[in-house]
Amino acid sequence: MSTINALAQGLIRRADRLSTADVRAKAEKIWRASLRLDELVETILSYTRATSGGIVLNPSEFNPEDLIRRVCREQIGQEPDRPFRLQMRGLPDIVIGDPVLLEQAIVIVLSNAMKYSRPDQAIAVTARKRASMVRIVVQDHGIGITERDLPFIMQPFFRGQNAKKVPGTGLGLSLAWYILKLHGGDLEVESLESRGTKVTLIVPETNTTGLSYSI
Ligand SMILES: Nc1ncnc2c1ncn2[C@@H]1O[C@H](COP(=O)(O)OP(=O)(O)O)[C@@H](O)[C@H]1O
Ligand SMILES: [Mg+2]
Repeated sequence: MSTINALAQGLIRRADRLSTADVRAKAEKIWRASLRLDELVETILSYTRATSGGIVLNPSEFNPEDLIRRVCREQIGQEPDRPFRLQMRGLPDIVIGDPVLLEQAIVIVLSNAMKYSRPDQAIAVTARKRASMVRIVVQDHGIGITERDLPFIMQPFFRGQNAKKVPGTGLGLSLAWYILKLHGGDLEVESLESRGTKVTLIVPETNTTGLSYSI
């Protein structure tokens, strides 16, 4: 918020002395800061809603390939130059779950991969079915997570020591974990510092707990 405030004030004060290119550059910074703010508010609200018992699964049948492809297109589309590979094999035509919440979980994991690696570092998403579970793996080659931090990264508000120069709340993975647990699935994270991170979202094809899983 303070970034937006300062940039906007600068624009107002110096608008008549700035070139069109300067105005555009500042407007772009304001836009990016507002996206971050939006993400922050959205994450805090979603997390609060989830953990205060306010998340109710709204299950429906959906096609997992369509959902994964769309989320990847929307997220990676923000960085068109990033090397990106999407591979899906043997997925069921239909999964029963909450597509809105599952989309949110994938967005969290994919945006982490983008946020914690350079824009020229490749990201790969693969999705497969194994033992009636759809496993969506998001692999990046970014800053990774230290061995010391790894056990804590799903705790609310926890942020890795090497991640602090990038803005964030520390709530994303906690929320994603919660969403997958509500589905009777799971979230797994493997990482090597300075090498990269692999996050697996495990989604049951049909929820055997009758979508009333409680944690
Ligand atoms: N792809 C990733 N690469 C490196 N570190 C990651 C990645 N995803 C998550 N992390 C680490 O886990 C922490 C918690 O992630 P998250 O809950 O999404 O919060 P935030 O991104 O807001 O910090 C991050 O602060 C970071 O240290
Ligand atoms: Mg995050």
